[in-house]
Amino acid sequence: MSKILVTGGTGYIGSHTVVELHNAGYEVVIVDDLSNSSIKILDQIEAIIGVKPEFHQFDLCDAQKVNEFAAKHNDITGIIHFAAFKAVGESVQKPLKYYRNNFFSLINLLEVFNENIDFVFSSSCTVYGQPDSLPVTESEKVKPAESPYGNTKQIAEEILVETAAVTPGLNIVALRYFNPVGAHKTALIGELPNGVPANLVPFITQSAIGKRGPIVVHGNDYDTPDGSAIRDYIHVVDLAKAHVAAIKRLEEKKAEANYEVFNIGTGKGSSVLEIINAFESSTGEKLNYQIGPRRGGDIEKIYGDVSKSKELLGWQTELDLNEMMRSAWEWEKYIKANPF
Ligand code: NAD
Ligand code: WQD
Repeated sequence: MSKILVTGGTGYIGSHTVVELHNAGYEVVIVDDLSNSSIKILDQIEAIIGVKPEFHQFDLCDAQKVNEFAAKHNDITGIIHFAAFKAVGESVQKPLKYYRNNFFSLINLLEVFNENIDFVFSSSCTVYGQPDSLPVTESEKVKPAESPYGNTKQIAEEILVETAAVTPGLNIVALRYFNPVGAHKTALIGELPNGVPANLVPFITQSAIGKRGPIVVHGNDYDTPDGSAIRDYIHVVDLAKAHVAAIKRLEEKKAEANYEVFNIGTGKGSSVLEIINAFESSTGEKLNYQIGPRRGGDIEKIYGDVSKSKELLGWQTELDLNEMMRSAWEWEKYIKANPF
């Protein structure tokens, strides 16, 4: 059984990926410093899969801790590196916090794990900015980043390309996620936003449960069919399964080069107003919303061309918008009844 290190494994996408790795027969070791997640997530994972994954709490920016961990875990064959800070707005206020965390953690891992290691990196569609053509393919040129957070993803991809070029023992897949939403079907794990959510779906569920006021739709004057901005929303469980597919591709030595990049989305765009409608129709809950001005730095529309992932990873999404909204709502109700 291959052993996979999941950094950030108690976080939103990491916890769902731990479950899917276990379901696919992998042994998992989690490293997380709990800077943006709760230790209780380990019990939640255990309630889903029946075993508590091995867990180590430390900051991956600490090179000595990473070295000590690597020395004791020489049976790790793959790494899925989720650990990073991800709040776009905060990154504008505290750029060094983001550059330090997102780069040092990555560099520390690459410095010690570079012989016969499969490495999957969490990138983001944010690297495309507003693409020149849609659906956007992996060969679209990367645009200057809108935020320090976005810049950490762009530069991390460059670090990985340059490191792969001189490190034959390192086999890397970068996954560019579109907009992950939803929660596990058991409602035992999901997203735990910090403070007022900037992201649409957590704001919707918190508004519906009465924790927030009305939703503000950031702009209805875009060049889109209903005027609101378009994104490619993907169910977090489908996204988690893409990581398993990426690890399998690397293990089976199917990669065409030791650095590959894939779009991970549904390939379908949905507007803010369509998301609001989908939430109402799939949950039966009525939402209060109002139209506000555009949000600074937002792009008008983006959705991915996911044919490369379908063909080479043998992966595609299975869960639709209704399931994304239904599961996000079940999770919101769960955490109201069982606060973290
Ligand atoms: P998350 O904050 O829920 O999970 C990240 C986890 O990493 C947290 O549990 C946090 O405690 C941990 N962590 C952060 N820095 C660490 C460090 N230095 N050492 C150890 N642990 C550390 O975020 P998420 O939504 O699950 O995102 C996972 C990854 O996917 C991130 O790299 C993020 O940038 C990327 N991503 C997320 C989205 C999204 O919308 N959620 C979209 C595209 C890409
Ligand atoms: C989606 C749409 C908003 C809240 C961000 C990051 C990106 C990536 C995913 C990590 C936009 C609108 C939102 C609200 C609204 N993360 N909206 N009212 O902006 O696509 O991407 O998360 O890599 O880097 O920038 O996602 O969920 O914030 O917004 O109208 O209260 O919903 O303006 O059009 P976004 P989002």
